Amino acid sequence: MKVGIIGAGHIGGKIARTIAETDGVDILAVGSRSFGKAENFAREFNVPRAYGSYSELLDDPDIDLVYVATPHSHHFEVTMEAIGKGKACLVEKAFMANSAQTRAVLDLSRKKGVFVGEAVWTRYQPALGIIRKLIDDGRIGRMRMISATLAYSIEHKPRIIRPELCGGALLDLGVYAINFVRMFCPNPIEKIDSQCILSESGVDLTESVSMTLSGGIMANIQSSACCAGYNTGVIAGSEGYIVVDNVNNPHVIQVYALGGILREELTVPECISGYEYEFLACRDSIGKGLIEPPQMPHSEILFIMELMDSLRKEWGVRYPMDGPES
Ligand SMILES: NC(=O)c1ccc[n+]([C@@H]2O[C@H](COP(=O)([O-])OP(=O)(O)OC[C@H]3O[C@@H](n4cnc5c(N)ncnc54)[C@H](OP(=O)(O)O)[C@@H]3O)[C@@H](O)[C@H]2O)c1
Repeated sequence: MKVGIIGAGHIGGKIARTIAETDGVDILAVGSRSFGKAENFAREFNVPRAYGSYSELLDDPDIDLVYVATPHSHHFEVTMEAIGKGKACLVEKAFMANSAQTRAVLDLSRKKGVFVGEAVWTRYQPALGIIRKLIDDGRIGRMRMISATLAYSIEHKPRIIRPELCGGALLDLGVYAINFVRMFCPNPIEKIDSQCILSESGVDLTESVSMTLSGGIMANIQSSACCAGYNTGVIAGSEGYIVVDNVNNPHVIQVYALGGILREELTVPECISGYEYEFLACRDSIGKGLIEPPQMPHSEILFIMELMDSLRKEWGVRYPMDGPES
């Protein structure tokens, strides 16, 4: 599978390094708003083709998958253009600015029969299967509580603090905490309460969301873009609990029995960076003629975008691209 990277930035570089070591996937091209930047990126990461606009990359007939690695504010236009041109896409999280954009992209994907997925890497990593098996095997008894925290001190980054770049902790970090809850307990939300601290620029800096899920399960998530985080996830049941060291990139999974006794400690299989799994999943899905990866179905992408819309609405966090219904 030949990949074209849109946006010669931070995550684009990490992906280029990862794919260089991944069998069956190659980076063929990079597209940037500036040709000089694309050339520098291509030189640094050994990418064969460099384009000075996103559209030129989308017109390259040899590209099988377009990887959209711009700020969330700039995912929509290029993804719509790519799908319109019949190009499969893997779009960084958060998938879009809001659910209205998400619906438009997913509708176009269906209409054109073109694959599109969201690059929430935790959805594709082996840790997911390991944790699900522990739960299914009854290791913690009946699930009662699930919590996830993710925080980094990154408010100096323009894309985190500026509303026109869809800034805020929720779309950048909270999205992982929500995914953590949804991956292990996708039960319907019966009740939701939240608190948020806004930045001077009007985006959410720190937030806490509490949800009652059907089946008598309480979910709590916290995210912040202005402090260091311990970033753990905990799934607690009637017979014990599971601690996941990092909800954004799990490495160590601990199983505790009643009384806080450590019963087992599992580590995830060795990997390149952890980003390779999402690309391998795209390759498999596209090979099977699917328009969505089973690991992160379109219905789930939309559910999470709608949830984040409703939280932002409650907090008064608005982006220029939000319509009156957002
Ligand atoms: N999965 C992960 O672990 C992970 C980690 C970090 C970020 N991300 C996601 O990846 C996306 C990009 O994040 P990043 O940290 O890589 O961002 P970044 O370095 O700030 O920006 C990425 C690129 O986006 C392009 N871009 C297009 N319009 C822009 C604008 N108006 N302002 C700034 N840049 C613009 C630029 O590329 P050109 O100048 O070359 O056009 C820029 O280099 C976000 O959606 C983020 O959530 C994911």
